[in-house]
Amino acid sequence: MRMILLGPPGAGKGTQAACVCGGFGIPQISTGDMLRAAVKEGTPLGREAKAVMESGGLVRDETIIKLVKERIEQPDCANGFLFDGFPRTIAQADALRDENIRIDQVIELRLEDEEIVRRLTGRRVHPGSGRVYHNIHSPPAVPDRDDATGEPLVQRDDDREDTVRERLRVYHEQTQPLVAYYSSWAGQGDAERPRYSIVDARGSVAEVEARIRAALRTA
Ligand code: AP5
Repeated sequence: MRMILLGPPGAGKGTQAACVCGGFGIPQISTGDMLRAAVKEGTPLGREAKAVMESGGLVRDETIIKLVKERIEQPDCANGFLFDGFPRTIAQADALRDENIRIDQVIELRLEDEEIVRRLTGRRVHPGSGRVYHNIHSPPAVPDRDDATGEPLVQRDDDREDTVRERLRVYHEQTQPLVAYYSSWAGQGDAERPRYSIVDARGSVAEVEARIRAALRTA
């Protein structure tokens, strides 16, 4: 299974990716997580990405495409993978087609902008493990402390409201065109076409997960 979780920032891609990947035994490939790891390590990639990510913009297509191509050559991708946050531009999607990297399924998570702002400004993360909380929807047992370690939780630099709104602007301008790209391709007779499902991302994590499972069963 080679899958893309497509959707705006904060729609729950990372949250749902963890559930889907467990079910299929495939790795989650989050370009955002890979970039954040590079920033933390201070690698050349991290130095290139840091300011762009903090401003809510997108890292250069060439950089991202190289990163993803190297990642999917790893042995754990032999049975498939789930892309979370990639592709994010038409150029990135075209690169997959040009490289004959076939995608079986695209799942589009749909959520309105104001709910996204609420989800992202309330998100807190544990830097050591990447565990994700929300201060209202999935709060830690002790406020601002990781459940497993008791260490402090932090807010991502790009989760401040002004940056969230810029990320949404960039999403609508550069990533949303992928909705038409993949949904119209899915409707064509091309044998290589992916299946395309739209999932309502409102409601609880469990409700969204059940909708994704239903979409995968009927796909
Ligand atoms: P990235 O890390 O990919 O960020 P994103 O796509 O903006 O997605 P997020 O991680 O913010 O949200 P999510 O949809 O995963 O939501 P989550 O599950 O955490 O990218 C960061 C940056 O890296 C980009 O801005 C860009 O600069 C760069 N970048 C990355 N990929 C790139 C690419 N391909 N090309 C160029 N640049 C790239 O949920 C959010 C919150 O909501 C959490 O608190 C969660 O607990 C809560 N929540 C989740 N589901 C629910 C629910 N059902 N109900 C209530 N709360 C919920």
